[in-house]
Amino acid sequence: MKAKRILTVSSGKGGVGKSTFAVNFSLALARVAPTVLVDLDTGTSSVRNTIDVPVKKDLYHFFRKGEPLEACLTTLPDKLDPHGHFRNFAFVAAPKHAMEEFINFEDMHRYRLMRAINELPARFVVLDLRAGLDAAVLDFLPHSNSGILVFTPHHPAATAAAGDIVKALIFRKLRLVLSEEGPLAKDRETRSHLATINALLDKVEDVYDESLPNLDAFLKDLLLALGEVPAVRALAETVTSFHVHFVLNLFNGIRESYENAIVPFVTFLQRYVSSHVKLYNLGWIVQSTELHEANCRRHPIVLDGPSAGEPAGQKLKLEDLDALLLGNPTPTPVSPKDFLLEVNPEQALVEQLEVLHAMQQDSAARHVRDNFAYILRRALHALQAFPAESFGQRRLLTPLELFDTLAGRTFTP
Ligand SMILES: Nc1ncnc2c1ncn2[C@@H]1O[C@H](COP(=O)(O)OP(=O)(O)OP(=O)(O)O)[C@@H](O)[C@H]1O
Ligand SMILES: [Mg+2]
Repeated sequence: MKAKRILTVSSGKGGVGKSTFAVNFSLALARVAPTVLVDLDTGTSSVRNTIDVPVKKDLYHFFRKGEPLEACLTTLPDKLDPHGHFRNFAFVAAPKHAMEEFINFEDMHRYRLMRAINELPARFVVLDLRAGLDAAVLDFLPHSNSGILVFTPHHPAATAAAGDIVKALIFRKLRLVLSEEGPLAKDRETRSHLATINALLDKVEDVYDESLPNLDAFLKDLLLALGEVPAVRALAETVTSFHVHFVLNLFNGIRESYENAIVPFVTFLQRYVSSHVKLYNLGWIVQSTELHEANCRRHPIVLDGPSAGEPAGQKLKLEDLDALLLGNPTPTPVSPKDFLLEVNPEQALVEQLEVLHAMQQDSAARHVRDNFAYILRRALHALQAFPAESFGQRRLLTPLELFDTLAGRTFTP
């Protein structure tokens, strides 16, 4: 089996359609390769409530009864999958009721679950995360990309929360890279700068302190003060190689999605994070009564219909679309000097608008099932075309393992 890829679905705020997306996307993925969906949310709209199948064992059994995670998988009965198209799909349900281990999620329990997720027998593992941004959520998220963020034009405030996830992830990584025991501390001269650089980073992180509004201003200052030293190069590389993947839910037209979701999201990132992160729109899901009713009937919409898991029509070749989205899938080497250049904030918005129009020309806009087929196609392409660190992760790392991985890393001199 090819290396596993773990993809998180998160949003920062609740009720934007994470679970709906996670369930249907996992089903679509399962038509390609063995896929396990893990419900890490204990909310009322949990995965078990949208799939009509009795759950014999769930995370309760994993936490309280010492069952291996593999023993807590639920597969689909014939009733839901009469043609056997989804035999490669399984899910791990969250506990039925609030459980202390899960709500407070002490480190010990969390790490045990992370290790077990790494061992799951699947090519794709999808994690449906709960809203919020505490350590329990952050630990499951990748460190060099955003995983899949879901937001909608109906909640511009929730969109800023998705931006907050990106900010938290990049800062987590920068802190580790800049730590006194981190990769940069090996060099004596760099080590002497670390305390100052960390103090500046505090100012960037603090949105009330306007002296350094974002990482671009921070890097520009560092570059002017220190020149292209290894620390500056490492930080520039960390920021510019960060990939953000998102899905627009409850889409009802390009104009509204652009104005109420894309603009607030991109503007948030430019203002508080950086204009240099890579943005990758995976597609949209239309607002659909049929989808909502399917959820209520506990019969996920992707289970029905001929287009489940099939590629959507191809007016525009994926490669062309990707060229439009990211320029070139092979990341161009960054020069820290890029941070000295003035970036036109409109440019990213124009590009995102072009992407929306290109998607509409393709079949992304049609029926909600086509939406999932389209997103699947784009996600598979992203998995193939980009380096593993740029979309999801191969395995979950505890904070210590993450630190060790980054500490052992050498940045291009
Ligand atoms: N595209 C859509 N069209 C119509 N209804 C939708 C759509 N997406 C989600 N919904 C409905 O919105 C509600 C919230 O969706 P869902 O439970 O997937 O959100 P969530 O982000 O997982 O919420 P929570 O944060 O509570 O876990 C559900 O009733 C769902 O059926
Ligand atoms: Mg949910």
